[in-house]
This record gives sequence, C-alpha cells and structure tokens, in this order.
Amino acid sequence: MIAGASGSAAHVCPWWVGYLLASPLRRMIQNPDRILRPYVQPGMRVLDVGSAMGFFTLPMARLVGEQGSVVAVDLQERMIRSLRRRAIKAGLEGRIETRVCASASLGVDDLNGSIDFALAFAVLHEMPDIRSALSSITRTLRTGTYLLIAEPAGHVSREDFGRTLEIASACGLEPAGSPTIRRSHSTLLHKPVP
Ligand SMILES: C[S@@+](CC[C@H](N)C(=O)[O-])C[C@H]1O[C@@H](n2cnc3c(N)ncnc32)[C@H](O)[C@@H]1O
Repeated sequence: MIAGASGSAAHVCPWWVGYLLASPLRRMIQNPDRILRPYVQPGMRVLDVGSAMGFFTLPMARLVGEQGSVVAVDLQERMIRSLRRRAIKAGLEGRIETRVCASASLGVDDLNGSIDFALAFAVLHEMPDIRSALSSITRTLRTGTYLLIAEPAGHVSREDFGRTLEIASACGLEPAGSPTIRRSHSTLLHKPVP
C-alpha cells in the first residue's frame, strides 16, 4: 500500500536530509544533467515538485537558459530557503520562482496549461494524496508535454510504483518510456493532445 494513495499521512523527509540530497557526491549516482537533458530545452517553463534544496532545480535552471524559468515547489520552508540561497550563489535566482506549499495542495493552479516539463523526483511517496498531486501537476502541463516521475527503489516497492502509474493513467497521462535512473523506479509520462 502506498501511504499517499490511502489518504493517510505519509512520512516527509526531515529538512536536514536536504543537505545530503543536494550533495555533489550524489551526482555520481544520479547525474541531473544526464537525467534532465533529454527533456529540458532552452526557453521552457518547467516545474520541480518537491524540490528540496534544489539538486535538480539548479541544473534545470541552467538548461532552460536566460529565456526560460523554473517553478520550484516544496512543503518545507527551510528547504526552499536553502534553495534560494543556492540559486543566488549560482547567479540563477532570476530564473527560479520558489513556492512553499501546503501538504494537501501544491498551490500551482495558476500555472495550468503553462508548464513545458515537470519533474517529481522522490516526492510522490511522501504525499498524503498522490491522486490529487498528480491531477494538479497534469493540469499545469501543456498538452503534448511530459512529466518525469522517479521514486526511490529502497523506499517504494515495484508494486506501489505500479499503483502510482495507475493513478497517473487515471489522471490522463500516458507512459512514454522508462529512463534508467540508478536506485529508482522511473517513468516518463506524456499528456496527450485531446
Ligand atoms: C526525498 S526529498 C526529494 C527532493 C528532491 N526532489 C530531490 O530528489 O533531491 C522529498 C521532498 O518532497 C517534499 N515534500 C514532501 N511532501 C510534500 C508535499 N505534500 N508537497 C510538496 N512537497 C513535499 C519534502 O519536503 C522534500 O523536500
């Protein structure tokens, strides 16, 4: 049973784990540029759901270039505060909009139909309601664009990941590939043109 599918409270990673997640050493296992480059192009507006301290947000901001932008959303204010500091240090703050959201709402309804690519990396299993989150993310996407989801294989079983994919399908997303990402279950999802 996935915690988030039942509507019960899921375990949220403590804020200090954000420092470990943002460590440059992690690149040896999960290289953000290699993972994101196939999907993120200059000029895009992209969404990073559960960004934590920005391990993926900053590389996304580089990939979208000066004409693009990234919206980074996280439940924990301390994660977002650290992300902002890192963005300023990297000179990328002008391309990154940060948002602190509520547990049950990503607060992204104003983005509906405006996002060219979304990432939900190691976050869905922490959410109280995966269906609601995937439905919100799907609405933000332009038709014909993609959402990449990845879940930690150590925390999420293959069966639970399959259940998440069923929910994604019910939200109108279609599987478009299974990129190999170490220590993860991952799927690329497509929002089809109606
Ligand atoms: C395991 S971390 C992964 C962070 C980042 N995606 C990465 O791979 O480095 C999960 C993040 O999701 C955030 N999170 C958990 N529940 C959330 C929710 N309901 N809405 C938004 N963010 C949430 C946590 O605060 C945490 O920063």
